[in-house]
Amino acid sequence: KKVVLAYSGGLDTSVIVPWLRENYGCEVVCFTADVGQGIKELDGLEEKAKASGACQLVVKDLKEEFVKDYIFPCLRAGAIYERKYLLGTSMARPVIAKVEYDRTFSTFSHSILEHELSLPAMVDVASEVGADAVSHGCTGKGNDQVRFELTFFALNPELHVVAPWREWDIQGREDAIEYAKKHNVPVPVTKKSIYSRDRNLWHLSHEGDILEDPANEPEKDMYMMTADPEDAPDKPEYVEIGIVSGLPVSVNGKELSPASLLSQLNEIGGKHGIGRVDMVENRLVGMKSRGVYETPGGTILSMAVRELESLTLDREAMQFKDICALKYAELVYAGRWFDPLRKSMDAFMEEITATTTGSVTLKLYKGSVTVTGRKSPFSLYRQDISSFESGQIYDQADAAGFIRLYGLPTRVRAMLEKDNASA
Ligand code: ARG
Ligand code: SIN
Repeated sequence: KKVVLAYSGGLDTSVIVPWLRENYGCEVVCFTADVGQGIKELDGLEEKAKASGACQLVVKDLKEEFVKDYIFPCLRAGAIYERKYLLGTSMARPVIAKVEYDRTFSTFSHSILEHELSLPAMVDVASEVGADAVSHGCTGKGNDQVRFELTFFALNPELHVVAPWREWDIQGREDAIEYAKKHNVPVPVTKKSIYSRDRNLWHLSHEGDILEDPANEPEKDMYMMTADPEDAPDKPEYVEIGIVSGLPVSVNGKELSPASLLSQLNEIGGKHGIGRVDMVENRLVGMKSRGVYETPGGTILSMAVRELESLTLDREAMQFKDICALKYAELVYAGRWFDPLRKSMDAFMEEITATTTGSVTLKLYKGSVTVTGRKSPFSLYRQDISSFESGQIYDQADAAGFIRLYGLPTRVRAMLEKDNASA
């Protein structure tokens, strides 16, 4: 018997290795996806996994796929959960559980060519190594367990899922350290942060400890991806985002692969303190939770894509797209990435943003992003129509009849009210 474990190298997933061997009598294959959580976390990981008792560590670089096939579709859809959350952790769970390589991506020249043509993630690793079970280190109180397991269900309903944090009696960090020592698992020397964090190329989340009281302001030194806006440069910086059919392709005129484009914007945005969000959200499992997110590049990109739509979408299209965006975000948050509904909505998003092509210029300054310009070859904006100066196509006299009919119900109601008042 063999199990594939989603492994981070931290204490939480390290103790799962001996626990699975002891309680399920199985061999443990550790799987780590590089979704841009930071190279440091991947250093010496194999020795660590083996020292914990794993028979093998499989590491896959999923950065390009993550950005291109998971982040960008959400960006194009305008998906934001509960008014504020840009879904950084939600989008990463399905890619870690599953990856499908799309050859059309080769239009972007570099980096990607070094990748294998097929990048299996957990479900595929499970079939490769002949495992009949998968395991993860998510708590039983959170969203992540749902996202992982719904993806497993969708891709291989036969796989058994083991979620130790829902089963064992290890409670907190002290318990875990004790268990680790007893089983000769190397305990990380670095003092674990007091926060529960999740990082990838799109965002960094902070939860727990003093944040559990929604009234507490986060500490200044908690943040890791963004400078404090108060300490950010005193000079604003402009950045121009190039967009093709709702998907970003360039920064300041330079074409970049999805992952490098996002890293570059993280750097620029982070420097100017862009993209901090502090919120209380409704978790899928029913409770409210307080989280703080840093999404520097993502915040710039969301604004840019949305702004370009102001030129390329008509009123009806924009209103309906915004309604769909809410549902799309909800599906992604709730782990329903592989539902037919989300996939179908993607087809809608692709079609409706087909002409959302052009560029947007934004100004970054001490935590704020301001749009300063937008252009598109498919712009529906026409200065010759809109201008106060002149007009051939638009005849102001037409407005009189339009307003009379458009306001007919308003007039009818007012007449009725007047009659009733005098009766
Ligand atoms: N609350 C966010 C979400 O549900 C962030 C979760 C972070 N996960 C973690 N294991 N630290 O998407
Ligand atoms: C956690 O912070 O560990 C749990 C977050 C979640 O799964 O929702």
